[in-house]
Amino acid sequence: MLRFVKSVSAGRVEWVCFAPCMRQFSKPRRIRQAEDDLPYDSSMPIPATQRHSAATDPREAARQRLIVALDVPDVSAASVLLDRLDDTCSWFKVGLELFVAGGPGVLEPILRRGHRIFLDLKLHDIPNTVAGAVRSAASLGVEMLTLHAAGGPAMLTAAREALAGAARPPQLLAVTVLTSMDAGQLGAIGVNRPPAEQVAFLARMGLAAGLRGFVCSPQEVAAVRALTGPEGTLVIPGIRPAGGEVGDQKRIATPAEALQQGASYLVVGRPITQAPDPAKAAEAILEEMAGVL
Ligand code: C5P
Repeated sequence: MLRFVKSVSAGRVEWVCFAPCMRQFSKPRRIRQAEDDLPYDSSMPIPATQRHSAATDPREAARQRLIVALDVPDVSAASVLLDRLDDTCSWFKVGLELFVAGGPGVLEPILRRGHRIFLDLKLHDIPNTVAGAVRSAASLGVEMLTLHAAGGPAMLTAAREALAGAARPPQLLAVTVLTSMDAGQLGAIGVNRPPAEQVAFLARMGLAAGLRGFVCSPQEVAAVRALTGPEGTLVIPGIRPAGGEVGDQKRIATPAEALQQGASYLVVGRPITQAPDPAKAAEAILEEMAGVL
């Protein structure tokens, strides 16, 4: 796993990244600009609840960092999957398909089973409306909630401020560029930067608006990690075990690669949920993850 250490040299503060291949941290590679170049106050404390797992057992650490996407049409299909994955996985992502079909009530059985929920609603609307939706979501017992960075700084700031005073605020994650978008798809909506540049642009904007969590593809995770430092929560979809079906995802990596690049959490859907034996597929991914933790 990548590690980051704060280093002060010649009056400049830098985050220094150590990759696992760099024995005993002997050859640090500087991947981050001086802190005064960053678009946010990096001394701002990050609540402990917003940090990813500190488990020392690699297998348990892997379990706490794998999120299974419950992209299913209804509560009964979700229950079937939960029955099969209850003992193997602890985080589940509820996205638009399930939430629209079943409403907030779909979360209750997942919470009752003792699992943690990432509510992936990818909110994108005027600031007032998003702030209201964030306030409503904050009472549902979910621990992470997405909104589109492309909604702009005012929307992101309104969302963050809407959580002030919430008893158990979910961590807000700004979705940068969907992993299904490539340069052609971005061009089609008038964005002529390559995906990696657009991701970095949106991440800097999100940081400036006070967000510390991001969703990006495995191919940009190292660059976003360099911007957020170790406290950033980077949630990474587009994960495909080597040789697996790619489907509609464009910017993908294996579980081990994504973690080595600096991912906090991996989101995996179809490679687990559409496998003949979902628990076995999840086990294989956890084993690969544990191997690099
Ligand atoms: O089945 P698969 O592993 O491709 O599922 C990935 C999940 O991650 C889906 O639920 C998708 O909505 C979500 N996601 C994504 N790209 C993003 C954000 C979320 O694929 N940028």
